[in-house]
Amino acid sequence: MSETTFTPRVFSGIQPSGGLTLGNYLGALKRFADAQNQGIQTIYCMVDLHAITVWQNPEDLRNNTRELCAGFIASGIDPEKSILINQSQVPEHAQLAWVFNCVARMGWMGRMTQWKDKTAGKNAEAASLGLFAYPALMAADILIYHATHVPVGEDQKQHIELTRDIAMKFNHDYGVDFFPITEPVIEGAATRVMSLRDGTKKMSKSDPSDASRINLTDDADAISKKIRKAKTDPEPLPSDAKGLEDRPEARNLVNIYSALSEQTVDQVLAEVGGMQFGTFKPMLADLAVAKLTPISSEMARLVADPAEIDRILARGAEQAREITAPILKKTYEIVGMIG
Ligand code: AMP
Ligand code: TRP
Repeated sequence: MSETTFTPRVFSGIQPSGGLTLGNYLGALKRFADAQNQGIQTIYCMVDLHAITVWQNPEDLRNNTRELCAGFIASGIDPEKSILINQSQVPEHAQLAWVFNCVARMGWMGRMTQWKDKTAGKNAEAASLGLFAYPALMAADILIYHATHVPVGEDQKQHIELTRDIAMKFNHDYGVDFFPITEPVIEGAATRVMSLRDGTKKMSKSDPSDASRINLTDDADAISKKIRKAKTDPEPLPSDAKGLEDRPEARNLVNIYSALSEQTVDQVLAEVGGMQFGTFKPMLADLAVAKLTPISSEMARLVADPAEIDRILARGAEQAREITAPILKKTYEIVGMIG
């Protein structure tokens, strides 16, 4: 497909739309921190331009962006090892997105399940144009770095496929081999952490029930209570992964245990198979408290010093632009703009 070999580079982003959950931590942040320690360049982004595709109160947006930055750092992303940025502070993202708006087709956007879900039962005519074009900006986030690998949760797979389509169409239309064909990285037991109240629904910050999720800002008591009250079935835990089929709540709790303890599901079940939930849940609660409370206290410490966060983001933007400015310049040249 592509003749050029691109240097491996990891990019991913999260919207600063308020609140981080255990799903964000296991499906994204923890994996971002792990990728950082594998000798590949890593770039992580707070996507504030994506957030405003739906209404955001300006003061909340600013606070949420700083809180998200604190969440990244508290989860182990080290600004000395990774480039940590806020999207709007690196203008090349939005500039490349415009070019991609002209490469992508309306039909591609209309087929995105996130677009369909967000407008289902509502008046799609009243959705912002930005919400419709959202995936083209996401493709620009990735391709303005020539990123080759994008760790995301299962729900973002279709957007990465669209990013590949945009890269291929651009390369084809202009007869170049300029943008890489990016790979989604969706692996591990926790690419889809489910609600604690309903094992068939994704754990989400937008669920009206706070008991359905663990927030990264929850204290030890709240974490324990939510896990003890999590919905389960009456059977004991099975001794192999096959026994979790058709048991979504049991599977979810085992997956969470597996991801937090960094063991495979089979290793976990070798240890806990045959146990009742009354015994397993306190074990899971203790593990979750041990892993998550240091993150929430570090986040609280960091958000208390917003000036320091702003300094980190300003420096990240400077480092990022060393990569993005030449790639945008070259893109404009390919497209036929006078440089
Ligand atoms: P969001 O908060 O939906 O913008 O998601 C930010 C990142 O967290 C994306 O990579 C998502 O795929 C991931 N994510 C969000 N919720 C979950 C979940 N319940 N399980 C796994 N990953 C998730
Ligand atoms: N759309 C992603 C989400 O909602 C966030 C995002 C924006 C992103 N740009 C990205 C993720 C680029 C990975 C790469 O989770």
